[in-house]
Amino acid sequence: MATRIPEPFRIKMVERINLIPREEREQRLVEAGYNPFALRSQDIYIDLLTDSGTGAMSDKQWAAVMLGDESYAGSKSFYKLESVVQEITGYKYVIPTHQGRGAEQVVLPLVIKNKGDYVLNNMHFDTTMGHVILAGGRPVNLIDEKAFDTDKYDDFKGDFDLEKLENFIKEHGVDKISCLIITVTCNSSGGQPISMANMRSASDIAHKYGLQVFLDAARYAENAYFIKERENGYQNKSIREIAKEMFCYADGLMMSAKKDGIVNMGGLIGIKDNEDLYNECRSRLVPMEGFPTYGGLAGRDMEALSVGLEEALEYEYLHYRIGQVKYLGDRLREAGVPIQYPTGGHAVFVDCKKLCPQIPFHQFPAQAFCNALYIESGIRPVEIGSFLLGRDPETGENLESPLELMRLTIPRRVYTNDHMDYIADGVIKVAEYASSLKGFEFEYEPKVLRHFTAKLKPVE
Ligand code: F0G
Repeated sequence: MATRIPEPFRIKMVERINLIPREEREQRLVEAGYNPFALRSQDIYIDLLTDSGTGAMSDKQWAAVMLGDESYAGSKSFYKLESVVQEITGYKYVIPTHQGRGAEQVVLPLVIKNKGDYVLNNMHFDTTMGHVILAGGRPVNLIDEKAFDTDKYDDFKGDFDLEKLENFIKEHGVDKISCLIITVTCNSSGGQPISMANMRSASDIAHKYGLQVFLDAARYAENAYFIKERENGYQNKSIREIAKEMFCYADGLMMSAKKDGIVNMGGLIGIKDNEDLYNECRSRLVPMEGFPTYGGLAGRDMEALSVGLEEALEYEYLHYRIGQVKYLGDRLREAGVPIQYPTGGHAVFVDCKKLCPQIPFHQFPAQAFCNALYIESGIRPVEIGSFLLGRDPETGENLESPLELMRLTIPRRVYTNDHMDYIADGVIKVAEYASSLKGFEFEYEPKVLRHFTAKLKPVE
């Protein structure tokens, strides 16, 4: 039986949401070119597009907003944030950025020294991959194959295939490789965690060959919770201690603070002790993001982030947070809906290849399910499959994604357990007629990152 974990907060302010009638939802989806990215939020009842920047700030965070020091240089709010991040990570240098990709656009071009150099990762997030390519690098994913077997339980489906990692370095030569990035949790494999043992070994391999290691730390607190719950030797350690150990295996971090910082906007660069890299980042930051003591953030944003980072490390919060995602996943599994199992930290990923076998990959089965769920329940999920993957740049052919997933991404502290039941009921209902859904084809297809702005039409 799926277990409900009561919310460890009570609600002090509410925001009205509206379920518009079904006929209107049908109309809105046609106007949006069957692409939920083009829907207006006022037409959505429950928005599960992303957990990024969509969390609810606490009373303490809102109170901190009033303490924002808006000085252009040397803001008190920066020094507060710096000391919180130093304390959590053990790193010497801290630079704020406007969001995760802000950190990526500053750090990656400094680390990718030569055109064509490889960047190794368990699995790149889209923007990280984009910035590697923009900087002239070549992104390589070296995740363990177990990540792709959605039915089969594994504690750590974000782990590197360590043999593949070392073989890649030996085969291509360390001179052709820029760095190793460890993405915690691994968003692209389903918010799946990486074990401490795997992180330590991946980091040891990289360091043995003289490569720098970075954490993509967007959901590091959620990863630390999974380690505490699942990895031998960590049961009696605090989330903080586990997080610090995770950070110690890397030389730096890039972080979207919109996830485990529980703020609506913000990002971070952290550097353990490499003063040269720190100075290079600071110089590059000025034209890209802003002066190094604000990096694209207002003083009040930095205040809210300082508090959010602490709150995201509380065990009770994480227990509820990960438990809520698991509850939704368990309800779906009990009804026979196939999902990436076990559920990860921030989302339930529904396996639409299994639910819609009649729709070929180039007609986007997961997109068809997402659209049906919006019509059925007013819920906006997001497709993670062949629609997002795009085309082969050389042949122009549609690429086939190994998985066709619908991501039900759960914002932090926003929706209640009753909302989870409503979402589960909607998905279960659509699953009943999923094998009769039709696929989609393009009416308009942009050349890059097509999933954001493409317009689709149903296949006749
Ligand atoms: N790294 C990971 C692992 C992410 O999931 C994201 C964003 C980023 C970097 C980029 O951060 O958005 O602050 O610039 N993921 C969001 C998502 C957008 O919906 O999964 P950003």
